[in-house]
Amino acid sequence: MLANGEVNRYLTQPSDEVPYFYPKNKIPLGIAYKNDPNKQIPGLFNPLTIKNLKLNNRIGVSPMCTYSSAHDGPDLGKVTPFHLVHYGAFALQGTGLIMIEATSVDPNGRTSPEDLGIWSDEHALALKPIVEFAHAQGVKIGIQIGHAGRKSSGTAMYNALQKGVGKTEFGWSDVPGAVVAPSPISYSEDSYVTPTELSGDQIQELIKNFRDAAKRARDISGFDFVEIHAAHGYLLNSFLSGASNKRTDQYGGSFENRIRLLLKIIDVVKDDHQPLFVRVSGSELAPQIEGSWDIEDTIKLSDYLIEHGVDVLDVSSGGNNSQAQRRKAYQGFQVPLAKAVKEHVGDKLLVATVGKIEEAKFANEIIENGDADIVLVGKAFLQNPSLVWKWANDLFVRIKHTNQYEWPYYYPPFK
Ligand SMILES: Cc1cc2nc3c(=O)[nH]c(=O)nc-3n(C[C@H](O)[C@H](O)[C@H](O)COP(=O)(O)O)c2cc1C
Repeated sequence: MLANGEVNRYLTQPSDEVPYFYPKNKIPLGIAYKNDPNKQIPGLFNPLTIKNLKLNNRIGVSPMCTYSSAHDGPDLGKVTPFHLVHYGAFALQGTGLIMIEATSVDPNGRTSPEDLGIWSDEHALALKPIVEFAHAQGVKIGIQIGHAGRKSSGTAMYNALQKGVGKTEFGWSDVPGAVVAPSPISYSEDSYVTPTELSGDQIQELIKNFRDAAKRARDISGFDFVEIHAAHGYLLNSFLSGASNKRTDQYGGSFENRIRLLLKIIDVVKDDHQPLFVRVSGSELAPQIEGSWDIEDTIKLSDYLIEHGVDVLDVSSGGNNSQAQRRKAYQGFQVPLAKAVKEHVGDKLLVATVGKIEEAKFANEIIENGDADIVLVGKAFLQNPSLVWKWANDLFVRIKHTNQYEWPYYYPPFK
């Protein structure tokens, strides 16, 4: 405080988002400066408001398993400093949204023994420092919650080339009844076990587990949104597809029966204030297999998702069928799936797209053409956590960077 009570505008203010000293960013990171009124901000850098969530730009970190939690002992499934550094790097660079990797609602629902979990309050509390750090940057962060179903108890992918994905030490595939699915159909008999069919009571338990996980994510960790993982052949995806779901009860058979579990989970997970994201595989890419899920099913599902209050449909593909067609991953190879959904839903549902999106111009066109509302990026963020900065440069946009990094580039930092 200066003598006359005037506030020193050069004084560093501490952020109140974290319980330690951190220089406050007065402007959220990743926001485009509007210093030239005659210049239009590219669509990719247009903020997006979804319920009470305001994204500073349309670029998000796609959920990516890092297989970095302890595989036994008291810290099983909890975050470590690795996770803080890994996700913190994206936050420091003004990413529009960060989505924490698939995090299991049940210990037996992990894809591998090293997966993250959120099946207890302690697990949710351990995630809180990551959320706080993102919030200190004004960056929004959510979490993908899921259950790996018949693909659980596999090997961390960084070991898979040596060991095969299916069975692993510290896994639970030898425990009778621990690997579950809608029907006792193995994903692939060479390397995965035959799962046990979930009973009606176990389905009720699962619904509760999703509900509790989402509540913990919001109330204890402080996440801004939750995504339900119903893609890539994991448990909820395997309920949707007639190729993996052969049940004869209310959760199998007709389309309405196969989507019932997902809708019930949506109903208990959704929140009046926070947006809800759902990731699906837009197509199972196995048209030769009877009952397999295709884009027409996703489009049909989107009407139900709107009715049940989903805010964002995140459209990926594949993963439910070991006999799926091999596809060539060219830039934006999954955009046509998102676009087909977007054309159907219009403004009633936001759509996120993902898949080898590597160039700013390409990403911007997706948004400006209205093919999708959010661009999610996976591997390109692993290579370059400051991808948003690069894309801003490529599109001649100046965005807010964190104080510590901004001033050497732009001095004075802002007017
Ligand atoms: C290392 C890695 C881990 C992944 N883990 C998940 C995950 O936890 N949940 C999920 O829905 N998708 C996962 N994916 C898929 C990505 O979210 C993304 O959809 C896919 O990589 C395509 O985008 P990209 O070409 O930009 O990487 C993972 C992908 C990678 C590369």
